[in-house]
Amino acid sequence: MKVPFPKGFIWGASTSAYQIEGATTEDGRGPSIWDTFARTPGAVFHGETADIACDHYHRLDCDLDLMARVGLKAYRFSIAWPRVQPDGVDVNPIGLDFYDRLVDGLLARGITPVATLYHWDLPQALQDEGGWTNRATADRFGDYASIVIGRLGDRVSRWITLNEPWVSAFVGHLEGRHAPGVRDEASALKAAHHLLLAHARAMERIRDAAPNAKAGITLNLSDVLPATDSDPDIAAAASVDLFENRIFLSPLFRGGYPDDAHEFWASVTDFGFVRNEDGNAIRQPMDFLGVNFYEQHRVVADSGHVRGPSNIVRGARKLPTMPPTTAGSVAIRPDALYSVLTRVHREWTKLPLWITENGIALHDYVGPDGRCHDPERIDYFAAHFRASARAIDHGVPLEAYFVWSLMDNFEWAEGYRLRFGLIHVDYPTQTRLLKSSAHWFARVIDSNAVPDVVGD
Ligand code: FCB
Repeated sequence: MKVPFPKGFIWGASTSAYQIEGATTEDGRGPSIWDTFARTPGAVFHGETADIACDHYHRLDCDLDLMARVGLKAYRFSIAWPRVQPDGVDVNPIGLDFYDRLVDGLLARGITPVATLYHWDLPQALQDEGGWTNRATADRFGDYASIVIGRLGDRVSRWITLNEPWVSAFVGHLEGRHAPGVRDEASALKAAHHLLLAHARAMERIRDAAPNAKAGITLNLSDVLPATDSDPDIAAAASVDLFENRIFLSPLFRGGYPDDAHEFWASVTDFGFVRNEDGNAIRQPMDFLGVNFYEQHRVVADSGHVRGPSNIVRGARKLPTMPPTTAGSVAIRPDALYSVLTRVHREWTKLPLWITENGIALHDYVGPDGRCHDPERIDYFAAHFRASARAIDHGVPLEAYFVWSLMDNFEWAEGYRLRFGLIHVDYPTQTRLLKSSAHWFARVIDSNAVPDVVGD
């Protein structure tokens, strides 16, 4: 038995520039905050960098052919801002040539390009002027968006402004586990607001330059549950939900921060960085909402709790994840994807939803038979695809599903330790090999249906 998907459903895979391209000093690319951060002692597992990563910059044709072998209908990639404006201001046309070739190569293979304008690689020169804590960075982002659309807009008609502003703001400016490595809550909130403003500026430019294009933002949304039905645990879960989900959903769909945000952060900031005109700009209509789904949290109230890397919300503590988990210790909960999709549709927006990322970290290896077997990834995707089909049955306008990731790559602070790809990458030789999950996904795409029982 197979669970069918709607006709025309968009099956794709995602990557991001810094995680796969390499060639970080070629053709005029300037340094990004991740080039700087990765060189900070202790910042990345084993001190690894993405200087070479998957060497995708030099292996573009081979990688395009692999996408075609998997049968992708669409490919979501990001554009490296420091290739386009190496110093944050001057335009570097050669940096854009690479994306010209990428887009043409996709179109030649019948694959729809979906371009993300920002996936965390801010030009270092803009960080030197305050980065996302500086309101002017949002305007700079608008200019950058215009430049990119001016070059690619005749062939790319699907745009994502930002990838996971939550991670840029909070992992980058509160936890300090990501670039720029700041640990200050007031800075994180300011960065969050300026990222939303940057989204607004880019939307304006996309609408001006490409009125027929479809555009949206990608948020990482998590399913947050109180560990018990006690009032304190319910309140603690509401704080985590505010912190991880509503802080972006509310300004995007209701034009302002939720009431409890002002109360929750009263000791940290008075939100003085928000101007009256920002609300409407941030709320301007989009064409779809991108959802990256990875996590479910169970939350207990804990007034004495000290902040730790994965427990950053005051007064609330996330319970340790219970099996089954990924190699990255993230709980595997396909039903939580159903909850997130149905909740967003019910409470926040009737817009079409796109899953722009979802995937599992494993320690994949090439076995003695020369193959890479990843049955856990097949199980993971099958369960999550079925959960999405259920959401569609219950009225959620889900139009697209991009798996993370096309290929193994540089997993930020985790370096190369965790593998997420459909395609195995042997880094020393840069050999690519389709994993079992890639062959399985090709069959899903081809039949536009997911097997009811794994192994079909
Ligand atoms: C998401 C990121 C993506 C990748 C996956 C595993 O948060 O957008 O770049 O790191 O997690």
